Amino acid sequence: MARKKLQRFEQNSQSENVIEFGKKWYTTIKGKWNAEFFKNNNSITLELACGRAELTLAFAKNYPERNFIGVDVKGARLWKGSQTAIEEGLTNAAFLRTSIQYMEEFFVEDEVTEIYIMFPDPQPLDFQEKYRLTSEGFLNLYKKLIIPGGKIHLKTDNAPLHHYTVDMVKRYGGKILFETTAFYDSELKDSHFGIKTVYEEMFTSKGEVVHYVIFTIS
Ligand SMILES: C[S@@+](CC[C@H](N)C(=O)[O-])C[C@H]1O[C@@H](n2cnc3c(N)ncnc32)[C@H](O)[C@@H]1O
Repeated sequence: MARKKLQRFEQNSQSENVIEFGKKWYTTIKGKWNAEFFKNNNSITLELACGRAELTLAFAKNYPERNFIGVDVKGARLWKGSQTAIEEGLTNAAFLRTSIQYMEEFFVEDEVTEIYIMFPDPQPLDFQEKYRLTSEGFLNLYKKLIIPGGKIHLKTDNAPLHHYTVDMVKRYGGKILFETTAFYDSELKDSHFGIKTVYEEMFTSKGEVVHYVIFTIS
């Protein structure tokens, strides 16, 4: 394995704000994020498949009265978010390394207020549907964690994923609160404080449009 990656894994293992296998809180934090980690009663927002967690960092900076958790399976990506949060003294941001499929192991019912999913892999093939982060299986999972009426946000360059999500949410009995095929022409254009994630930057620099959907599932 590349030396840089190993160094990042080592730093993650020492960083209080990274919760991962083998460390403090990994098996005990469920239902206790506020009591044990954040030490306040503020709402918790998740950024799923966060990569380097740019949105988590921007939100943590701009909303000090809220708590944020970036979730991703890749430790070397989470490292960037974790180190930036440490450098900037952001105590309202945490980074959980796990597969999203295991979220139930980490959160109890109603522990989460809002969820953001930014530029997830679209998983376009039929046999990949179960890996799409807005497929029925994942909606079932989110429903177990999020408060009734809690908003779920999807930002993507991928038109089929946008339309699939809208269709899936309606079939699921959820509500589409907002959708656009042109985020930067919409009233929400400044709501992410001008930050672009790595993947957003990659797609928009090639001229791709940015789709956005907000929905609830309960
Ligand atoms: C296309 S990248 C997007 C990263 C980031 N949101 C962005 O916009 O730059 C997809 C990310 O999802 C993560 N990912 C995909 N499936 C996942 C899963 N089931 N559980 C946890 N992370 C996952 C990958 O590790 C990767 O960092």
